[in-house]
Amino acid sequence: MSHYHNLLIDDQDGICLITINRPEKLNALNKDTIQELSRAIEEADSAVSVRVIVITGSGNKAFIAGADISEFAHFSQEQGQALATQGQADLFDRVANCSTPVIAAINGYALGGGLELAMAAHMRIASDDAKMGLPEVSLGVIPGYGGTQRLPELVGKGRALELICSAGMIEAQHACAIGLVNSVVPADELLPTTMKLAQKIKRNAPIAIAHAIASVSAGSDPKKDGYAHEKMAFGACFATADFKEGTSAFLEKRKANFKGA
Ligand code: COA
Repeated sequence: MSHYHNLLIDDQDGICLITINRPEKLNALNKDTIQELSRAIEEADSAVSVRVIVITGSGNKAFIAGADISEFAHFSQEQGQALATQGQADLFDRVANCSTPVIAAINGYALGGGLELAMAAHMRIASDDAKMGLPEVSLGVIPGYGGTQRLPELVGKGRALELICSAGMIEAQHACAIGLVNSVVPADELLPTTMKLAQKIKRNAPIAIAHAIASVSAGSDPKKDGYAHEKMAFGACFATADFKEGTSAFLEKRKANFKGA
């Protein structure tokens, strides 16, 4: 496994826990951290043994307090566009397109690029003291890592524009009420609850899960026909050994042992 300066990687029996480890900067995403995260996600997604990826932040204050403002404060128009283009391709779209399910465990501030990373993940669980927002317009810029697209998808256009245009922060309970996060738990139960969900996911057929993620994602991609994708993916599952194993196990009244093949 690669060595990382800004990340801690802990493989817990098929669940890869990635912790962003810059607590003194509230885990802000500088260039190095984005590149390392990109590499860590790629590595975990391509490892057959990894069935679920969990992303969290170190310390008890922040998940990620955004992109590192000190790195782009002096950028030109061209550099700004390149920053968003490269960041989306290298990290945010990579997370969204992972075939391994990605859960964001939001343990504090999830702001700007931090909330955008959580939104690129497939599921989000927040601690009850987490705060979320897209404060970019307060800096004279807009969300550039997919936030203007993924937020309305999760909470609707009106609520998304309220959050984006006000640059305000919302509490975890409110985020849950509007569908931005799946659930809220006390801070000390965040990782245990996330791991419990990861364990539950891990018991199921990995190729079927990958197809499910791709089918759901196809539904919100204007270039794709989600229903057509679902039919194709449904058929493809029948060609897997896992499908034979899952159906045989049910008929033989035993637990399935999926190999991811
Ligand atoms: N980029 C770069 N550095 C950041 C950062 C960011 N997005 N967010 C926090 N930091 C740094 C601070 O500069 C500070 O560093 P220093 O100790 O060297 O001065 C350190 O992290 C701690 O942050 P601080 O602001 O002192 O903590 P706080 O508890 O007073 O406030 C926040 C917490 C989250 C409200 C505040 O840090 C903040 O508003 N951050 C920026 C959020 C943002 O606009 N993100 C979107 C970026 S596009």
